[in-house]
Amino acid sequence: MPLVTSKEMMAKADKEGYAIGAFNVENMEMVMAVIKACEESNAPAILQTTPSTVKYAGLDMYYANVAAAAARARVPIALHLDHGNSFELAMQALRTGYTSIMIDGSKLEFEDNIALSKRVADACRPSDIPVEAELGKVGGKEDDMSCDDPGYTDPDDAVRFVGETGVTSLAVAIGTAHGIYKGEPKLDVERLSAIRKVVSIPLVLHGASGVPDEAVKDCIRRGISKVNFATELRIAFSNGIKEYMKSDPDVFDPKKYCAVGMKNVTELVKEKILVCGSNDKT
Ligand code: 13P
Repeated sequence: MPLVTSKEMMAKADKEGYAIGAFNVENMEMVMAVIKACEESNAPAILQTTPSTVKYAGLDMYYANVAAAAARARVPIALHLDHGNSFELAMQALRTGYTSIMIDGSKLEFEDNIALSKRVADACRPSDIPVEAELGKVGGKEDDMSCDDPGYTDPDDAVRFVGETGVTSLAVAIGTAHGIYKGEPKLDVERLSAIRKVVSIPLVLHGASGVPDEAVKDCIRRGISKVNFATELRIAFSNGIKEYMKSDPDVFDPKKYCAVGMKNVTELVKEKILVCGSNDKT
């Protein structure tokens, strides 16, 4: 079916107590592998690209890939700009046909984050394209974004932020980080519950790679309705290729080694869909 926005799927997830899996994709193979997993799980999903991924191949290339794969699929798929880092990039994604936009002003001062997020939300509203913003800082490193100084989301600030910006979902910082964790992450789940009590728009968990399944499920029970997975997918795809190369070092056909990477990604995404509880929710 044609691409859908993330709005209805997240609202339904929010209401029914599960989460939509949001999967970062880097190339055509990962797009196909993620959508295969969604089809096999009968799950709605969000495919997303970061600014550095966009830099690699262009918004139009990811749009064409994801729109074509979604058109072949029976499950609802949204294409989301992850961590949009400027008003201009958010507008380019909107014009290209992305059906969901994140503007990440979390590194700015509170008032500046409000101003930037509101500007993007105002610009996307006439096209009914949902906008995710971030308040508090998710730590760690993803692509060329890094944050050594994570800061947790304050519930009172969240109320003001949502009221003044008009964004449609909010990424919260509760102790997760992008990339690989050194130890087991310690999540401030009470803070998440406190935010949920006072903020009514859907909440988003970033940095879910490496977070134990039970901890992700607990966050969903406490009100998360979109969970982002990137690093684990990249590892699964790359490991598949490395394994194949080891067994057949003279290979020169990318279809052969990419197939193993794709199989790994499909298996992993099916597991994450079960963790999110979004299977059979189309
Ligand atoms: P991970 O790389 O930790 O899965 O984080 C993904 C993410 O939050 C993308 O925005």
